[in-house]
Amino acid sequence: MSLDPEKAAVPSRPELLDFHGVSMTHYFTDNWENIQNFQARPDDVLIATYPKAGTTWVSYILDLLYFGKTAPERQTSIPIYQRVPFLEIAIPSIEPGKDLADKLPTSPRLIKTHFPVQFVPKSFWEQNCRMIYVARNAKDNIVSFFHFDQMTMIQPEAGDWTSYLQRFKEGKLVFGSWYDHVNDWWKKKQTYSNLHYMFFEDLVEDTGREIDKLCCFLGLSLSAEDKKQITGGVQFDNMKKNKMTNYSTFPAMDFKISTFMRKGKVGDWKNHFTVAQSEEFDDDYKKKMKDPTLNFRSEI
Ligand code: A3P
Repeated sequence: MSLDPEKAAVPSRPELLDFHGVSMTHYFTDNWENIQNFQARPDDVLIATYPKAGTTWVSYILDLLYFGKTAPERQTSIPIYQRVPFLEIAIPSIEPGKDLADKLPTSPRLIKTHFPVQFVPKSFWEQNCRMIYVARNAKDNIVSFFHFDQMTMIQPEAGDWTSYLQRFKEGKLVFGSWYDHVNDWWKKKQTYSNLHYMFFEDLVEDTGREIDKLCCFLGLSLSAEDKKQITGGVQFDNMKKNKMTNYSTFPAMDFKISTFMRKGKVGDWKNHFTVAQSEEFDDDYKKKMKDPTLNFRSEI
């Protein structure tokens, strides 16, 4: 990706559009045909999330698990969003994510997507690729998305908090309904066994335990010492300080409005929701989240 923040034109904020029944913006649909024709390889690993669920965190963990020892220079020279390309992104001034993924020199290739499950290019399924889905409780997910949409110029205007909350409930944010996203990926697990579904809250609670689970899923055996080092390196404060993981080199974000590595907490929603908003949200949530096997924790 040729990214020169000095020269890069800041893309203009897009409008939300309805794309095959999902709210999207043209920055993630312009390259649709090419993306759908993406040729996955059997060892590709796809990291899928609803935006703001911990994508960068898990991307960095995976990059360290695979390449931390063998290619340490990656850690100081290539931002995480280039090491783990965002498949569907197509914005001015940066190379489309699909092209970047095609060119990745690593094996395996780590690729990220925010697509709802039905948009994932078919070759990933045909090649039986490993997929990791990260989900975050709805309330913290909205809060994080709200701040992100304010500071990220490639997203539609966030507007005020009350209207944002309403749009979240209606699925009118980029990448559509959170409820459909987390549920449809969860359902997919029943028929596609190469999918590891994990939760942001579990990662906060015990990062080491979740890294062990990831290693098990990926068939990786690292020494206890290496895992301990990775667990330390991926803690919030370390990633926030690290220019290669904190997005400070990405052109279309205004860090004066918010940082990318903002708080990294479970329960920050309590600082945003009023009691009435929380109660209303919970009522609506119960109507939409009917599957008793999919449980989120909004506090730990
Ligand atoms: P907050 O806005 O709540 O702080 P994504 O990478 O999917 O865009 O998600 C970003 C969210 O994950 C942000 O949440 C960010 O702070 C949080 N995050 C990233 N790395 C983290 C870490 N190491 N520990 C805790 N939270 C992390």
